[in-house]
Amino acid sequence: MSTHTYRAAVVRTPAGPDSIEVIDRPVADPGPGEVRVQIAAAPVNPVDRAVADGVFHRMGLVHQPDWTGMGWDFAGTIAATGAGVDMAPGTRVAGMIDGFDRDFGAHAGQLVVAAADLAVVPDGLDLVAASTVPLNGLAAAQIVDLLGDAPAGEDRLLVTGAAGAVGGSVTALAPDRGWRVTGLARAEDETFVRGLGADFTTRAEPGWDAVADGAVLQEEGLALVRDGGTFVGVQPSAPPPAERGVTVTAVTAHPDGRTLTDLLARTATGELPARVHAVFPLEQAADAHRALARGGARGRDVLRP
Ligand SMILES: NC(=O)c1ccc[n+]([C@@H]2O[C@H](COP(=O)([O-])OP(=O)(O)OC[C@H]3O[C@@H](n4cnc5c(N)ncnc54)[C@H](OP(=O)(O)O)[C@@H]3O)[C@@H](O)[C@H]2O)c1
Repeated sequence: MSTHTYRAAVVRTPAGPDSIEVIDRPVADPGPGEVRVQIAAAPVNPVDRAVADGVFHRMGLVHQPDWTGMGWDFAGTIAATGAGVDMAPGTRVAGMIDGFDRDFGAHAGQLVVAAADLAVVPDGLDLVAASTVPLNGLAAAQIVDLLGDAPAGEDRLLVTGAAGAVGGSVTALAPDRGWRVTGLARAEDETFVRGLGADFTTRAEPGWDAVADGAVLQEEGLALVRDGGTFVGVQPSAPPPAERGVTVTAVTAHPDGRTLTDLLARTATGELPARVHAVFPLEQAADAHRALARGGARGRDVLRP
């Protein structure tokens, strides 16, 4: 164990952005199969707002005695490797950690993670942009896995929130599995959504073969699915009740280094979106949360330790 320390954003008693603290933590050495990443960038996602607001504490999903670590995805460089890891220090990587009940997170100077959960960031993709890919890109890829292959003749997919981080990536990825995609988004997002290769609408009528609900419309989104169709949500703890023979599932994004490698490659070529709104120093994590809470931004606010 090193005696050095790094900075990390945490909440002790969650009560919104004002309850976020940046504390010093001791640097840990990676164990077998692990690496220590020097974090260069880590976005603030909607889930981080919910953690700081205590949503998951109230659900009984957090049991930390002292504090809860903030942050899910990140990009940075490998600082140290454990036994059995074949990655050189200095390699540029991105990844995500999952689970609510943890005292560490990606909103920090350093993170020890399983090497298998990481992907190398391709040359030409900067670490700030790369940091916005893992959580929402993997959630999108895993939503597309839940949708499966589009049945012949029943391939009309509505993606709600198609200009958002999850919805935008679902919109771009779903044609891989044969879906014909229409993106539901705000009028001002039409150019962005059409640029992903999808049709566009600001208002959807019922009758879709499948709905991927990036806008968290829940029951309202489920009502847009035809009888016997498919609904994939983003809130696994609160899926809307199934009705009319509709198959209802919800994604729980999990780390997957191999899929992330593909997502980053497709981001580097511009095929997948990676939008950054602003960059904040880690010490101003609370300001980044307030910016997200104000809404209206396109692209992520990213913390730089
Ligand atoms: N379960 C999981 O594993 C998982 C993983 C990642 C994310 N998520 C969740 O997925 C959700 C989306 O995350 P995100 O990062 O993609 O959020 P985001 O970037 O804010 O995207 C949401 C998009 O939906 C739009 N929207 C909301 N209501 C709409 C409506 N009625 N019509 C058209 N567009 C509408 C928003 O536009 P405005 O900004 O104009 O409202 C925004 O563009 C969040 O709840 C997040 O926590 C879950």
